[in-house]
Amino acid sequence: MTVHFIGAGPGGPDLLTLRGRDLIAACPVCLYAGSLVPQAILAHCPPGARIVNTAPLDLDAIIAECRAAHAAGKDVARLHSGDLSVWSAMGEQIRRLKAEGIPVSVTPGVPSFAAAAAALGAELTLPGVAQSVVLTRTPGRASSMPEGESLANFAATGATLAIHLSIHNLARVVADLTPHYGGECPVAVVFRASWPDQSITRATLDTVEAALPEGIERTALILVGPALGAEGFAESCLYAPDYDRRFRPQRAEGGRHGG
Ligand SMILES: C[S@@+](CC[C@H](N)C(=O)[O-])C[C@H]1O[C@@H](n2cnc3c(N)ncnc32)[C@H](O)[C@@H]1O
Repeated sequence: MTVHFIGAGPGGPDLLTLRGRDLIAACPVCLYAGSLVPQAILAHCPPGARIVNTAPLDLDAIIAECRAAHAAGKDVARLHSGDLSVWSAMGEQIRRLKAEGIPVSVTPGVPSFAAAAAALGAELTLPGVAQSVVLTRTPGRASSMPEGESLANFAATGATLAIHLSIHNLARVVADLTPHYGGECPVAVVFRASWPDQSITRATLDTVEAALPEGIERTALILVGPALGAEGFAESCLYAPDYDRRFRPQRAEGGRHGG
């Protein structure tokens, strides 16, 4: 028996990995994290599966579900939105399960920042403009930020910022970032990326608050940085005609591997 943690992706039901789908289909118990996991993904559960929405449960109750499944020898599919490596609360669940000797596995999912970038048709790392993406958030009711992880500190690098869990803090985001990026810096807010009601707002730090339509709350990502609006960026060396690389050698002897 194993508790399989599965990244359920950003919303679009076809943005689930094949491994995730097959695990869900093989598990007689499915615990899923609230409305961000679409019903269409739950349709992969086998007939008669025990399907539990964990949104109203506390950690003790979630572990109790896993313990009961373990005692019955039943595998569990544990679904969280997006990928599990960021803001999934997987860490605390794995710690408890390991302490009880319950085996776990982890299957990654498509993170929401990638779905938002896809919706924009944007590469977040453009040559000479930005070569780093910071996945971050602002402080929330339940979570403070560690010292040093301020928006201002990240902005000082000029990287592309993917700001999660913060649409309600938009005014604060704008105030913290404007001194570093300038009011003209491009911003994109992607609401419910990959869901049928996905919406995109493109603006600048100066205009984004006024530009945001009513009703954009909770499941939205704020992307900020010069890469979002850049047009005149350099081409990467990777596909340059004179760039010598392993599969397209420029020298007669064919580079390091001679092939
Ligand atoms: C609890 S975090 C979960 C993050 C998730 N584990 C991931 O990989 O993206 C929830 C936040 O992720 C962002 N988010 C999740 N799904 C999204 C989507 N489909 N579109 C836009 N933002 C999304 C929002 O900022 C939301 O407040």
